[in-house]
Amino acid sequence: MDSTNLKADELLKSKKEVPFEFNRVAVKYDSATSLSQGYQKDLQRSVDRMNLKGDEYLADLCCGTGKSSIACLNNLPNGTVLGIDNSKGMLESAAQKFYDQIKLGSLKFELNDVMELDYPDNTFDAIFMAYGIRNMPDHEKCLKNLKRMLKPGGVICFHEYSLNNNLFAKLYWKILGYGVIIPISGIISGSTKIYSYLVKSVLSFPSPGKFIKILNDTGFDKVKRYAQPSWRRPILHTFIAYKPQK
Ligand SMILES: C[S@@+](CC[C@H](N)C(=O)[O-])C[C@H]1O[C@@H](n2cnc3c(N)ncnc32)[C@H](O)[C@@H]1O
Repeated sequence: MDSTNLKADELLKSKKEVPFEFNRVAVKYDSATSLSQGYQKDLQRSVDRMNLKGDEYLADLCCGTGKSSIACLNNLPNGTVLGIDNSKGMLESAAQKFYDQIKLGSLKFELNDVMELDYPDNTFDAIFMAYGIRNMPDHEKCLKNLKRMLKPGGVICFHEYSLNNNLFAKLYWKILGYGVIIPISGIISGSTKIYSYLVKSVLSFPSPGKFIKILNDTGFDKVKRYAQPSWRRPILHTFIAYKPQK
């Protein structure tokens, strides 16, 4: 096993370190994702599936450089987005890009560990999490806490890589990951560790069926999964769920 693989394995075991690794690639993150065709469009499609009214208070968890936050804000002409991430570098990049929206008060960013959020019960009308839940060390514990902070009837959306339970999806992801994502993103960002971690963390994340079961077991209601009509169809999904009214 080469040293990059070894370090990626260490990150898998100690996911708390993941945001610090993102600090190292923060400046190049947007360039790397801009090569991923349809990245922003797919994020927007997941936000659209939440059917927001437009005036909600929404938490965008693991917001990174704000690509997901701006997709949420597009559907909230009278609402507010609170982007939370534990990487200082990623948030600095977000703050520079969205200066106007921050000044207007429709967008805020907070440096915090999503596993440790202690907002009061029933704080948020909606929660969005793109490429985030996979990075949480304990999915069930995190989901329980997110449900607590969501208002009754509130919607939660996960936009996440989760491999369909068949050999094709796994093979497709391995070819994409080891053949394209790690080498190209590594050249752009100067570090392959986080991308090697990405490939491995997706391989160990629950399949869509298993993740739906986890959401149901946590007590979410009306859980649904949607595919992305793009080249990410076998690997990327939108999961929508609601906190029961009572
Ligand atoms: C792949 S990026 C996704 C960024 C953004 N949501 C997007 O769609 O472009 C994942 C982000 O999760 C953040 N992250 C990972 N673990 C975290 C944690 N425990 N608390 C807060 N942020 C975390 C990382 O710092 C990183 O910015």
